[in-house]
Amino acid sequence: MNAVESGATIADLLGESGLPRHEAALLLRSVLRCEPAHLIAHAERTVDPPMSLTAQAWFARRRAGEPVSYITGAQEFYGIALRVNADVLIPRCETELLVDLALERIPPGSSARVLELGTGSGAIAVALATQRPELKITAADVSEAALRVARLNARRHGAEIDFVRSDWFESTGSGPFDIIVSNPPYVAAGDPHLEQGDVRFEPRLALLAGADGLACIRKIAERARGHLRPGGSLLMEHGYDQGERCIRQLRELGYTGVADFPDLAGLPRTCAAVWRG
Ligand SMILES: C[S@@+](CC[C@H](N)C(=O)[O-])C[C@H]1O[C@@H](n2cnc3c(N)ncnc32)[C@H](O)[C@@H]1O
Repeated sequence: MNAVESGATIADLLGESGLPRHEAALLLRSVLRCEPAHLIAHAERTVDPPMSLTAQAWFARRRAGEPVSYITGAQEFYGIALRVNADVLIPRCETELLVDLALERIPPGSSARVLELGTGSGAIAVALATQRPELKITAADVSEAALRVARLNARRHGAEIDFVRSDWFESTGSGPFDIIVSNPPYVAAGDPHLEQGDVRFEPRLALLAGADGLACIRKIAERARGHLRPGGSLLMEHGYDQGERCIRQLRELGYTGVADFPDLAGLPRTCAAVWRG
């Protein structure tokens, strides 16, 4: 007799999940829509059979490797609850640095024009809009499926963002923008990480960027010069080993004030540059 047929308790389901306890608890909390303390306080509570079945199906998906965020459809970023699905990259905590750096460059109350390229779930644009509702934000992605997720997230958080389907700058209009921000694809083709863990389930379009992983960063850095107002800033996330190459490229392209910033793990993560015009 399995856990459902016997009227499984919370403790049964967690014990029989075949997953690390924290992952099983996260999934079960999402099925039961409860707080963490509930799983402990009501460990012997019998779970309704339909919910038990859902929990067991979710456990099986996780055992097969699917990311927890795709199973629950939720991911937190910059303190905001976002919806996600397999059409978008799962927003990473290291990308919050990009939001911080953008906010540092925008005086409070400013209605600066911001362009986000490769918005995916809309994480960066929605975070900026909720922090500074006066900003005029355009957010672009080449994937219509990703834009559907981004629009949903913006609606859920009352964020006013102009979403546009665009191959980088193709349909964004010429601006000029005060800030251009992007977490572009930056994984090199053939990188072994593509075959490991959660990344295996994420869209290749959100990850891959040519033989050296810099194809998108290069394109954005070159073309951003024609879309920034004089004195405007370009901010881009990059791979942990790409910082020096990004900096060199930005200087060669004529940007000033070029700098690189580490993430919370101390790894070079985000480059910033000013276009003097
Ligand atoms: C690394 S993901 C970043 C998603 C989101 N901004 C985040 O930080 O979680 C890169 C995004 O760039 C988009 N992208 C890839 N190629 C693009 C292109 N040519 N033009 C516009 N967006 C593109 C992908 O669809 C993906 O959503």
